[in-house]
Amino acid sequence: PIPVITIDGPTASGKGTVAHRVALQLGFHFLDSGSLYRLTALSALRHQASLNDEHALAKLAEKLPCKFVGDQVWLANENVTSAIRAEEVGNTASKIAVLPTVRRALVGLQLGFRAAPGLVADGRDMGTVIFPQATVKVFLTASVEARAYRRHKQLIDKGFPATMEDLLKDLRERDARDSGRAIAPLKPADGAYILDTSDMTADQAVEQVLRWYAA
Ligand code: CDP
Repeated sequence: PIPVITIDGPTASGKGTVAHRVALQLGFHFLDSGSLYRLTALSALRHQASLNDEHALAKLAEKLPCKFVGDQVWLANENVTSAIRAEEVGNTASKIAVLPTVRRALVGLQLGFRAAPGLVADGRDMGTVIFPQATVKVFLTASVEARAYRRHKQLIDKGFPATMEDLLKDLRERDARDSGRAIAPLKPADGAYILDTSDMTADQAVEQVLRWYAA
């Protein structure tokens, strides 16, 4: 069977960076499942779809005209690689991610990323819902302060305005939504390794995941 490594965790835990580097090291495919929720959110914002219209949102998710070309993400004819990283899009993504029909609409797309020689899947429910039979499951986390600090640096580097105060509030709200939702709540999958990266560099976290995979 094609190996799958799932890396789930809360917002701004650094799992994206870690998952991406693990995939590069192993020469595996990479699924950033959060980007699919972000693409759906951006599509909803562009179409001025109401966030209460679950049916319309699920339709957008079902027919998402997205393309992944290297590190670039396209939505129809537009390169949206940086647009989907805006905080507004992330917040909207987190709101529509509570809708069961939206989540269901994105399942097939996610399963399709599993291909030889292997896949590293990054998200909230990769090990619990999408790839429960994964070879290695990791729950990657960090303190809310460490995460706010990392997200702050990331946003400033990309030229988006951000304050630590707003980010802490945002992260707490997003944690509550991700963990408290009825469908696919954020939690460690059965058999997942827990990795607290508050005092770790990304490279140290990558090495730990690779050791678990090699074991
Ligand atoms: O880490 P951050 O929340 O900034 O962003 P993300 O990982 O790109 O995911 C965007 C949003 O999509 C998250 O806030 C989650 O609520 C949601 N999501 C999800 O529900 N399930 C996934 N597998 C991935 C993301």
